[in-house]
Amino acid sequence: MAQIKAQRGTKDVLCGESYKWQYVEQVASRVAKTFGYKEIRFPTFEDTALFSRGVGETTDIVQKEMYTFQDKGGRSVTLRPEGTASVVRTLSEHGAWGGLLPVKAYYIISAFRYEKPQAGRLREFHQFGVECFGSSSPASDVQTIKIGHTLLKELGIHAVLNINSIGCPTCRGAFQAALKEYFSARKEELCQTCNDRLERNPMRILDCKSPVCKEIAAGAPLITDFLCESCRGHYEALQEGLSEAGIPFVKDPHIVRGLDYYTKTVFEFLDQNGLALLAGGRYDGLVREIDGKAEVCGLGFASGIERLIGAMEAAGHSFGGDAVPKVFLASLGQKGVYAAEKLADRLRRAGIWAETDILGRSLKAQMKYADKIGAEYAVVLGDSEVENERAVLKSMKGDFSEELSFEEIAARLG
Ligand code: HAM
Repeated sequence: MAQIKAQRGTKDVLCGESYKWQYVEQVASRVAKTFGYKEIRFPTFEDTALFSRGVGETTDIVQKEMYTFQDKGGRSVTLRPEGTASVVRTLSEHGAWGGLLPVKAYYIISAFRYEKPQAGRLREFHQFGVECFGSSSPASDVQTIKIGHTLLKELGIHAVLNINSIGCPTCRGAFQAALKEYFSARKEELCQTCNDRLERNPMRILDCKSPVCKEIAAGAPLITDFLCESCRGHYEALQEGLSEAGIPFVKDPHIVRGLDYYTKTVFEFLDQNGLALLAGGRYDGLVREIDGKAEVCGLGFASGIERLIGAMEAAGHSFGGDAVPKVFLASLGQKGVYAAEKLADRLRRAGIWAETDILGRSLKAQMKYADKIGAEYAVVLGDSEVENERAVLKSMKGDFSEELSFEEIAARLG
């Protein structure tokens, strides 16, 4: 029988690698908490309409990349391709908009997109994200970007912040008309999906991944030339706020982002190869779109955890190092086995990582194993040690060795 393998575009995290994930997740959670964010958790799958309406019918994500299926009850459900729409759905459903504002939530999730797997692009990937609701002030845009900036700095990752404003429905009307005129002239060269977008939402052509569409889009009109007074003012205040906060940025009028819900501010932190490590923006119409009634502004970002880890590995960072056992309690004979396990339990209750032999190996093999797993200390428990309740505690490096009572060993390692 053929061996069953992992699905294309998925990544296994083995036991010797997971400390890197834990490190990044801990730093991210800590940074978010210092800005007043609390963790939110929500289901992996949702009603398909949440994403088609929230993320946008004409986006690549909805048109090409969603894991959508019918459940046994005939409902159309979708594995979340991102977190923002789900956070809005969750908060709406639980009446968050009637409470204290702003609402600030962070999450660590798996997300699913049927994309062509390549470097930095997976079909199941993981995001750390933050979402803030209730503020229309550019100060909240600055603060959201500052959270991303702080996170990358804490992880020791160098990335360049690119910002843009993609306006609001008011200024977008004239922009969409200008795009339609521009792209109509080269209609035949555009891909099939973009031909459809030309009628329904020409702005989406700017985000198409096909090389020909990309090349045509490079010469398209720029949204920044169409911003209304309010959006222009917001964008200028953002730039001033970022400068004041000492966060360097580059203005890139070509950023449109791959999701339809954005208004005004959009931003991306890119690595030296142009890969987005962290990206987001403002979405003032999304709550209304999903809730149906409430008018609440929102903004946030998400960051690919695999990409953060990749960037840290490339920079040679240690992730705090993997943990090692404090002590290996080697045993000789059955009495020794029982005593080792008892002493180990005592240490474990005090939160100490204590290892014992569960393979019935020779003493020599046990000590070799203790060395291999990087134990800091070792103790050998045989008949006489058990009888006297005393044993030699020695450091594996060889710089410490002392005969102590079991009591003293526990105290010394604690
Ligand atoms: P996004 O740009 O689609 O935005 O994804 C955010 C980040 O997730 C990307 O910058 C990247 O680091 C990571 N990412 C996306 N797709 C993949 C993939 N296929 N493989 C590996 N990593 C990936 C959003 O998802 C928005 N919800 C962000 C947001 C939150 N905007 C406002 N609030």
